Amino acid sequence: MNIVLLGPPGAGKGTQAARLQASRGMIQMSTGDMLREAVANGSPVGVKAKAVMEAGKLVSDAIVSALIGERLDTAGRHGAIFDGFPRTRQQAEALDSLLAERGRNLDHVIELVVDEDALVERIAGRFSCAKCGASYHDRFKPPLADGVCDHCGSTECIRRPDDNEQTVRRRMAEYRAKTEPILPYYDERGLVHRVDGMQSVDDVAAQIEAILDS
Ligand code: AP5
Repeated sequence: MNIVLLGPPGAGKGTQAARLQASRGMIQMSTGDMLREAVANGSPVGVKAKAVMEAGKLVSDAIVSALIGERLDTAGRHGAIFDGFPRTRQQAEALDSLLAERGRNLDHVIELVVDEDALVERIAGRFSCAKCGASYHDRFKPPLADGVCDHCGSTECIRRPDDNEQTVRRRMAEYRAKTEPILPYYDERGLVHRVDGMQSVDDVAAQIEAILDS
């Protein structure tokens, strides 16, 4: 099964993709994570992407489609969760081609519907473990022991450079202008399911599981 998670910054795409990876053995394909890895490694892709990401704009379709193409073969028989990809019509068409070339297809597109004002609080409070990448939130999902990662015990955490209010608003504008317009492309194929992303993480996860089981 291959699914796309769509939603604006902070909608919970990464949180839900990680849950599905754990519960179903599907592979999370996050272009945001791939790009941040490239930036951290100082690779040619990372050098190109760094300033674009820090400005809250979209990296080029060619770069992100190539990143997905390189990783797609690692998705095993349980399939892939596309998190933050596609973000433009061109990327949606590229994904169809990449899947078709491998004899696969897209099963579901899940749109997380959220209140944008609440997202700024979600994003501003977000941090992750510097060692294993586990994701937390100051208010909504703090670690069990203050300052200690639940998963690996590390005491180092990091916050993303694009998680400030000005950049978040720019990212939301990019979402409305370039990503929301791809919903009709999937709607006309009957692939889109809308889930209320303002519910608790567990309730959102339960709804997504029900869609995948239907
Ligand atoms: P990317 O990393 O994809 O960022 P994003 O889409 O802006 O999404 P986020 O990661 O900020 O949010 P999320 O929806 O995953 O929410 P999360 O689960 O973390 O992209 C970053 C940049 O890379 C882009 O701006 C662009 O420059 C570039 N890029 C990436 N892909 C690209 C592409 N395809 N094309 C071009 N450029 C690309 O949750 C947020 C917080 O809320 C967390 O703290 C979490 O714990 C909490 N939370 C989650 N769910 C809930 C809930 N239900 N209730 C309460 N809190 C919750």
